[in-house]
Amino acid sequence: MVIHLTTNASLLNSTETFQRAVYMIHSAGKALPIIEWGGIFAPLLFHGILGIWIAKNAKLNTSQYRFTSNRRYAWQRWTGIIALVYLFMHIWHMHGWFHFGPYLDVIRPLQMASFRPYNAASTLAESMNQWGGFVWPAFYLVGILACVYHLANGLWTAGITWGLWISPAAQARASKVSVVFGAVLTVIALSAWWAAVAPGPEDVANMRTIEDRMYKANVEAGVISDLPEKRSAAVTPDTAAASETDVPSDQ
Ligand code: HEM
Repeated sequence: MVIHLTTNASLLNSTETFQRAVYMIHSAGKALPIIEWGGIFAPLLFHGILGIWIAKNAKLNTSQYRFTSNRRYAWQRWTGIIALVYLFMHIWHMHGWFHFGPYLDVIRPLQMASFRPYNAASTLAESMNQWGGFVWPAFYLVGILACVYHLANGLWTAGITWGLWISPAAQARASKVSVVFGAVLTVIALSAWWAAVAPGPEDVANMRTIEDRMYKANVEAGVISDLPEKRSAAVTPDTAAASETDVPSDQ
C-alpha cells in the first residue's frame, strides 16, 4: 500500500514521473501475472476471507464501554469490511482482475478494466470521471481512508497478537508510532487521490500527448514491448503516429 500510494502520488510531480514508474512495474513482462496473483491477489483474498470470519465473530462492546480501544476494535472491523468492498471494486475498475479477451469484451463496456499502463496518467484520470464524475472520487476517498486506518491500526493490534508490545507502556508507545504512520500515509493517500481526480479534459489531452511521445521513444529503445492492449483505445493524432512506427513486437 505504501509503495502503491507513493507511486500514484508521483503523478502530482508530472505525467512523465508517473509513467516512468508504471513502465518499471510493467517491465516485469510475462512475470507480472505471477507477481500479481502470488504477491497481491492471493494474499489479499486470504486476508479478506479470514477477515470476514474475524468480523463475523467480533464481540463489539462500544455501547457498554466508550474507551478509545473499544472504539478502535470496532473501527478495525468496519474499515476492514469497507476495504474489502473497495478493493474488490477498485481492482475490477482499474485492472479488471483477469486479462483475457472475451471476458474483457464483456466488462469494458461497463467501464471496468479502465486503466491502460502505457497511457497511465490519462486513463487513470479518465476512469475517475466515469459514472457521472462524482461516484468514483467519493468511493475512492472513503475506500483509501478506510484502508489507511485498517493498516495503521492493524499493525498495532498485530503487534499485540504477536507479543511484540505487551505492557501498557509498550502499547502506548506503539500506539503513538501507528498514529504517526497513519497520519503520514493519509497525506500520501490524499495526494494520490487528488492527483487522480483533479485533472480535467484539457489536462488529459496533454497527458496523452506526453504518454504517446514516451511510448514511441521507449519502444524504440527496447525498454518496453509494443503491446497495443496496454494502450488507450482512444485515437489521437499522436497515437496514430506512434502506431505507424516500425517497432519490433517480440521483446
Ligand atoms: C487514490 C488512490 C489510488 C489510486 C489512484 C490507485 C490506482 C491504481 C491503479 C491505476 C491500478 C491498476 C494498476 C495496473 O493494472 O497496472 C491499481 C491497482 C491496484 N490497487 Fe490501487 N489505487 C489507489 C488506492 C489503493 C489502495 C488504498 C489500495 C489498498 C491496498 C490499492 C490496492 C490496489 C491493488 C491490490 C491493485 C491491483 C494490483 C495490480 O494491478 O497488479 N489501491 N490501483
